[in-house]
Formats: sequence, C-alpha cells, structure tokens
Amino acid sequence: MILVTGGAGYIGSHTCIELINAGHKIVIVDNFCNSERKVIDTIQSITSSSVVCVDADVRDKQKLTGIFKNYPISAAMHFAGHKAVGESVAKPLSYYKNNIDSTLALCEVMDEFDVRKLIFSSSATVYDASNKMPLDEESSLGCTNPYGWTKLMIEQILRDLSISNDIWSIVSLRYFNPIGAHKSGKLGERPTGIPNNLMPYITQVASGKRDKLHVFGNDYPTIDGTGVRDYIHVVDLAEGHVRALDYARNHGGSQAINLGSGTGYSVLQIIEAFEHATNISIPYVIDPRRPGDIATCYAKTDKAKRLLNWQTQRSLAQMCEDSWRFESQK
Ligand code: NAD
Ligand code: UD1
Repeated sequence: MILVTGGAGYIGSHTCIELINAGHKIVIVDNFCNSERKVIDTIQSITSSSVVCVDADVRDKQKLTGIFKNYPISAAMHFAGHKAVGESVAKPLSYYKNNIDSTLALCEVMDEFDVRKLIFSSSATVYDASNKMPLDEESSLGCTNPYGWTKLMIEQILRDLSISNDIWSIVSLRYFNPIGAHKSGKLGERPTGIPNNLMPYITQVASGKRDKLHVFGNDYPTIDGTGVRDYIHVVDLAEGHVRALDYARNHGGSQAINLGSGTGYSVLQIIEAFEHATNISIPYVIDPRRPGDIATCYAKTDKAKRLLNWQTQRSLAQMCEDSWRFESQK
C-alpha cells in the first residue's frame, strides 16, 4: 500500500485517483486543515474503490506509527504541508513547523518500519530568481520567502538522508504551475477567500463571483508584457507521481525532477485561451506588478522524460475547460 499524506488536497486527491487507476492500494492521512472530508467520498466514487483515510496530523508520530502497524505500507507520497507564499511571510513559524516537522516525523516512522521509498512535493519556487530560462535541475537554488525555504530545506534533509543510507530512494518533484481539474468536474482546487493564483481567480470571474481580473503588471520583458509561467494540468502532474513511484521502486538514491510542460504562457495568453475554451469573456484591468513576482518561469523537462518516461499530455485548452467545469459545477 502507498501512504499518501495530504491526499485530500488538490494535487494529492488527483494523485490518489491515478494511483488507484494504476492498481495501487492507498492509505490517506490528512488533518483536513486545507481540504474537505467529502473529497474522500469523491475519490471513492470516481474510482469505484474504497479508500482508507486516517484523520491525523502527520506530525503525530503515535498515529503515524499506528498506520504503519495496521497497513502494509511500501512507499509514501508526501503532499501534506502549508503552501501559501504570502501567508508564510506573515506566519513563518507555522510554515517551518508544519512543513519540516511533518517531513521529519514521516521519515522517522518510515525508517523505523523499513519503508524507504518516498516521493516529495517540492516546487519550482526553490530556483533562484536570477536563473536563465528554461530551468533545469542544475539551475541555482535560492528562495525569497519562508514557504520556499521549507521546500529547499526539506530537499536538503532528504538528500542527507539518502546519503546516510543508500537503501533510501527519494524523488523530490519540483512542480511548476498546476491548474485544471478532474474531467468529472467533481474534484479540483478550492481556495478559501480571495484566490492568490491566476486560474482560480479567472474561474471566479467567469462565474460572476468576482467582477474582474487584476493583471499584475504589463511591463515585463515578455511577449506581451505580462508574466509568463509553465502551467501543467493537475492530472498530468498526478501521472508524473505514479511514474516517479515506479522509478523509486527500481532505483536508489535521491533525485530532484522538474514536472512542468516546458512551455510558458503569459497572463494575457491564458485569458485568451480561457475565453476561447469556454466562450466566457474575462474582464480585466492592469494593476502594478505583484511584489516578489518574476517575469518568466518555465521548465526544462528532459530529466523527467529520461528518468520517468513522462511528459505532459494535456493542452492549455483542456486545462481551461477542466478548471471551468469544476468551478461551474460547484
Ligand atoms: P493542498 O493544501 O490542497 O493540500 C495539502 C493537504 O495537506 C491538505 O489536504 C491539508 O489538509 C493537508 N495537510 C497540511 N498539513 C498537514 C499535516 N500536518 N498533517 C496532515 N495533513 C496536512 O495543497 P496542494 O496544492 O495539493 O499541494 C500539495 C503539495 O504540493 C504541498 O506540499 C505544496 O506545497 C506542494 N506544491 C503545490 C503547488 C501548487 O501550486 N498547488 C506548487 C508546488 C508545490
Ligand atoms: C505561485 C506561488 C509559487 C508557486 C506557484 C505554483 C505566489 C507568490 N507564488 O507562483 O510559490 O510555486 O504559484 O503553484 O503565490 N497573476 C495575475 N493576477 C492574479 C494572479 C496572478 O496577473 O490575480 C499573474 C502573476 O503575476 C503571474 C501569473 O499570473 O505572472 C501566475 O501567478 P500565480 O498563479 O500566482 O503563480 P506564480 O506567481 O507562478
């Protein structure tokens, strides 16, 4: 069985479905601090399988030990953590405590039970802002906010662990910008409050929840002046995790691997693609740049192709359609 921490969250829930589709049995552990319990029912109804879910904080070693005693866990995927950049600047201790302590507790219990295959949710945010594009895994590392530092520190902890004992097999997946939703329209991203990220904001403008999009800056050195990012469909991302698990089962050591599409799109291109895919117009205004944003960020994806035999399959149009289907069916 595969232990999935944070399996009720946006990326974790889609990955649970792809794991089940690939024939794996899973155990989810989630404390629902940023997700809803009904997501577990949705995973079960989409896959027609029953899923074990333990309501617990990953930092609770006693509960984690109970899970490893009760179920034959052979590997773990670690999604659980806090993820909002702005909030991490306001509450650094909460971010360091949750993200780092949960990883330490998980690795300690895994070690105790001789389970040493781990897939970790890292982020493109670990790359230093001064790098040339596209970013490959050897690009220089560095962060500008506590959230990013937790990811970089955890990657280091995991590298040290695999050096200490080569029986560990660890893959840190550096995600670019996940968007989209499950094609059923039943599973997707549910941000609370005002969305920070572009696609959830656009879908809320489309549904009438917000009156217009604020485009953060049109004076970047990009195709049309707006920020360029590498958007990846969440189901492609989920499939990448299944490939990473296969890789970890057959190789030792630790690897950091980009999961992105390799293509950058500007904010205006995303608006246009969304309007085209949904036939809904998205009113917008140009606002000043958002502090901390960079002009362009996209991945070099050769390593994922080489090691995982994986690349994205889903188009930007599909990402827009699926994001909208989820928002409009809520
Ligand atoms: P999410 O908030 O939707 O999911 C995280 C899940 O973990 C939630 O269900 C939450 O309740 C749970 N959780 C948090 N702390 C926990 C704890 N201590 N114990 C048990 N459960 C806990 O986030 P997501 O978008 O699915 O992201 C998953 C992972 O991927 C995170 O580690 C995030 O930092 C990373 N990541 C996300 C993005 C993105 O854009 N969404 C990009 C790069 C990396
Ligand atoms: C965000 C996170 C980053 C994370 C990444 C992937 C922040 C500050 N950074 O980055 O840590 O790794 O997601 O999930 O949250 N934009 C607008 N208007 C909006 C929202 C966004 O114009 O209302 C623009 C941004 O300026 C940017 C692009 O859209 O150019 C994408 O923004 P966003 O979705 O927030 O992702 P990132 O900035 O890449």
